Amino acid sequence: MASVTLRNLNKVFTDQQTKKEVHAVKDLNLEIRDGEFLVLVGPSGCGKTTSMRMVAGLEESTGGEILIGDRVVNDVAPRDRNIAMVFQNYALYPHMSVYDNMAFGLRLRMLPPFYKQLMNWGETQTIKADIDKRIRETAKTLGIDQLLDRKPKALSGGQRQRVALGRAIVREPQVFLMDEPLSNLDAKLRVQTRADLIKLHRQLKVTTIYVTHDQVEAMTMGERIVVMKDGLMQQCDTPMELYKHPVNMFVAGFLGTPSMNFLHDTKVSIDGDTATLENGFTVKVSGDRAKKLAAYNGKTVVLGIRPQDMVEKSFSSSIVHPSDTVRMQVDVIETMGAVKTLYLTVGKSALVAEVDAESPAKELAPIDVVFDLDTVHAFDPSTEQAIF
Ligand SMILES: Nc1ncnc2c1ncn2[C@@H]1O[C@H](COP(=O)(O)OP(=O)(O)OP(=O)(O)O)[C@@H](O)[C@H]1O
Ligand SMILES: [Mg+2]
Repeated sequence: MASVTLRNLNKVFTDQQTKKEVHAVKDLNLEIRDGEFLVLVGPSGCGKTTSMRMVAGLEESTGGEILIGDRVVNDVAPRDRNIAMVFQNYALYPHMSVYDNMAFGLRLRMLPPFYKQLMNWGETQTIKADIDKRIRETAKTLGIDQLLDRKPKALSGGQRQRVALGRAIVREPQVFLMDEPLSNLDAKLRVQTRADLIKLHRQLKVTTIYVTHDQVEAMTMGERIVVMKDGLMQQCDTPMELYKHPVNMFVAGFLGTPSMNFLHDTKVSIDGDTATLENGFTVKVSGDRAKKLAAYNGKTVVLGIRPQDMVEKSFSSSIVHPSDTVRMQVDVIETMGAVKTLYLTVGKSALVAEVDAESPAKELAPIDVVFDLDTVHAFDPSTEQAIF
């Protein structure tokens, strides 16, 4: 196993016909610790796959360094980087059994050429036995040991996915690269395989970089998450830290479902050590948060409130620092089993709240809502950076 370090990694693609340049990855600096499970997340086209392909050696970088352990690998061939990849379109060999699919790469790597095998029969048998042991153990871990004789077409999507994983695991790589490996599975199987992958990582502790554009996958799987946008890393931290302290509006809006409510044109007025935020209703903050708003006195900010941090007044007794009560209009209610999603309006603003399923809220009726003041966010309207 090994750490992976990216230093000022860049990739500029040049379109052969138009000669136009696409800066797909911009100055990416990242240290993935030995044994860590790191998730790269971001919208389509933000540079996730390109970053992975550079680590794998399938794409040459146009600047910067890639280290695996202490070794700079920019000029090391993909097969010598000791990396295993699982991609979305994991092509299994259709004419080979599950066993042979898993053994193929290993045989290529471990067995000496045929004429040497003839000279050294004993050693060859030992290696073959070793390969067999690895395949059977891995298949057992993945729950595919009963399927070793089958051909891929006789497997379900989830089983094929496991074979593709197994093929990567038997190679005992120093680093796993996984690019949306679950996106071909249906929703239920995806959740199951997600949990299996986490368990597997706890067992094997192989350094893993996992790409997804699914924020739920990122939040549940990553020890740390890197959020990317337009080729630029926005923030890298633990899931909870990203959720609680997003550095900008993009990260704030990207993580969490339903998305954070953004109330644009919220007016700020400072009075002593209290700051009042006004947008058809008022929210008062004090102390450190009020100080951070000092430069915005008389100006506007974007107020950010997560749907989960809005609570119906009768359920608000557990909130330590509740806001004043705000009366809102309920437009639509979606019932989702354990929670209800409320679509609300207050003044000119529309907000989404996620409340207890027992909530007595009724469509087209008013309700009284309280915010948890410890969890409200404010953003600078021009830079979109977090103020708090
Ligand atoms: N071979 C290429 N030639 C030119 N541009 C490319 C090439 N490969 C990728 N790009 C561009 O680089 C940018 C990043 O692409 P990349 O595939 O890394 O995105 P991604 O984050 O993996 O997106 P997705 O979630 O859709 O898989 C995109 O603008 C893409 O069009
Ligand atoms: Mg991709």
